[in-house]
Amino acid sequence: MSSITWLAYAFVLVCVSVQVSPAPAPAPAPQEENYPPMPYEYKYDVEDQEKLLYFGANESGDAQGKVVGGYKVLHPDGRLMTVEYTVQGDSGFVPIIKFEQNANPFGKRK
Ligand SMILES: *[C@@H]1O[C@H](CO)[C@@H](O)[C@H](O)[C@H]1NC(C)=O
Repeated sequence: MSSITWLAYAFVLVCVSVQVSPAPAPAPAPQEENYPPMPYEYKYDVEDQEKLLYFGANESGDAQGKVVGGYKVLHPDGRLMTVEYTVQGDSGFVPIIKFEQNANPFGKRK
């Protein structure tokens, strides 16, 4: 065989070996990233004396993951329920629940 023929064989061999080279390994599954907690805060209040609507809530979380919040609801029987709660570490939801009889809370706030 001439050296040209050998070169041709070699070229074909290279092409075939390139074609049968295994497909690239699949990209590794995206790693779950642990971002630190983002501080946040919200609050809302609804007061409508005519319709006897009085409720609201608030909550804030800090960069350590501690959550503090509360909510209140005026019940139709005149009791005002307030709940204040914290969640810290593995504490779970820790509420303090209070009822105030005959609350009449309208206009109490400045
Ligand atoms: C959040 O809500 C609770 C229950 O209504 C209340 O006692 C507390 O003062 C509120 N906190 C803020 C920051 O508004």
